[in-house]
Amino acid sequence: MKLKVAIKSFGCQMNVYDSEVARGFLSDAGFEIYSESEESLPAPSAAQGGGGEENADVILMNTCSVREHAEERVYGRLGMLGKVKKTKPDLIVGLMGCMVEEHREKLFKRFPQLDFMIGTRNIKELPGLIEEVRKNRRQVAQIRQDGLSIEYSDLAKRSSPHQAWLPIMTGCDKVCTFCIVPITRGAEVSMPAREVYREASRLAADGVKWVTLLGQNVNSYRGNPSARAASFEGAGDGGKVLIADGKGEITFPRLLEMLCEIEGLKRISFTTSHPHDATEDLFQVIRRNPKISRRFHLPLQSGSDRILKRMKRLHTYDEYLASIRRLRELVPDISITTDIIAGFSGETEEDHLTTLRAFEEIRYDAAYIYKYSVRPGTPAAKLSDDVPQEIKARRNAELLDLQKKISRENAQKWIGREVTVFAEAVTAKKTGQILGSTVQDKKVVFEGPAGLVGTFQEIRITGLRNDAFSGEIVTAPALL
Ligand code: SAH
Ligand code: F3S
Repeated sequence: MKLKVAIKSFGCQMNVYDSEVARGFLSDAGFEIYSESEESLPAPSAAQGGGGEENADVILMNTCSVREHAEERVYGRLGMLGKVKKTKPDLIVGLMGCMVEEHREKLFKRFPQLDFMIGTRNIKELPGLIEEVRKNRRQVAQIRQDGLSIEYSDLAKRSSPHQAWLPIMTGCDKVCTFCIVPITRGAEVSMPAREVYREASRLAADGVKWVTLLGQNVNSYRGNPSARAASFEGAGDGGKVLIADGKGEITFPRLLEMLCEIEGLKRISFTTSHPHDATEDLFQVIRRNPKISRRFHLPLQSGSDRILKRMKRLHTYDEYLASIRRLRELVPDISITTDIIAGFSGETEEDHLTTLRAFEEIRYDAAYIYKYSVRPGTPAAKLSDDVPQEIKARRNAELLDLQKKISRENAQKWIGREVTVFAEAVTAKKTGQILGSTVQDKKVVFEGPAGLVGTFQEIRITGLRNDAFSGEIVTAPALL
């Protein structure tokens, strides 16, 4: 009998991708995927909720360490599953993801109900590990510390036939004092350019039109040169020569240019960028290549130079602002989004007001705002967490309110315009309604036949709903 596995992802897009790979290996090894859900993608790609794990034989949680809250949710579920196991002793409970990298075997002691743990570099070994638990009923872990945690697999079970995540690098060599990623994901490692190109081509041949390149610090990608990159010399537009840099490496802008050459790929997004590596070169590549998403996510974290310094973000507010201005000059319709931490160690009311002023000045399309939480082992854990919880919450709410107002105002300029929308899915609620997104990653809902999913449509934006625009098809639908 097939063992039924329920997988829940708690983290970023990389975490969701890892779950897709896990799901692929498990299905291939004869397991049944009973349910798959996500608990914590930042809006607007929003959580899909729902557990549906009641009758699973194996419960696998793909964890996140980036904020305390994400860890607490996993601890809460582990507690609950401990109780379930009293009446259902055969249930197998396992963890993968960043919490495994952070806490390692220590978690076995604290949670005897936990049967296995698998590291981010070991996903392939998942089916064997579950078998081992089933046979021997003892706690087992596979957590490799070196090597690449990216697994390209044609077994990966994508949730859409037309869209795919494509991790290109992992880890981080920056030292932002609040951040646990350098601990959980280790040093930066980039997939060789040839591998990325091959995987992107395979996805395109498989019908994928939109890829999102993933990395903890995606724009500091530096891939090995390769036969594929060399064969591109002289093939760029305007006589531009695509070559490796002085160190013989392919940089992120060069990689983007290579991927734009793949015919079947129509849209290329990437996340997350660090301001330090947001270069003129990158902006120019975006400007020249309409396939590249017109949404740029560039975390600011704080508008105050004093706080940016304490966070070791490697830039001042003015330098960041100059980058944004230049990008907007080159790509006028670009949508810019950010991440902000409210109440970091030492943040005064004046620092907070400076961040609010930065919102007024930059006028982001969206901002993801988080209350600071200390991550053990990070440099900031040695600083005092001196902003009281209620002040963090108040600052968080003020930032959120201001951003909501700005987002709404920014949205007005799109109403009445005609834009190209990629039809992503039929919305579950009302048949005949399709959800799509513009090249700025603005969500649009419009009426049309289900056959349009996976195609690009010219849409006139007619209004603004809560979380998306409404629109109507301009031209007769072409079912291509
Ligand atoms: N470059 C990374 C960013 C890591 S985490 C990426 O792949 O997205 C995403 C966001 O979480 C950060 O930009 C930051 O705003 C927030 N964050 C990270 N550590 C945090 C902490 N200790 N407390 C609160 N928010 C945090
Ligand atoms: Fe974290 Fe800063 Fe790297 S936010 S992922 S240490 S760029």
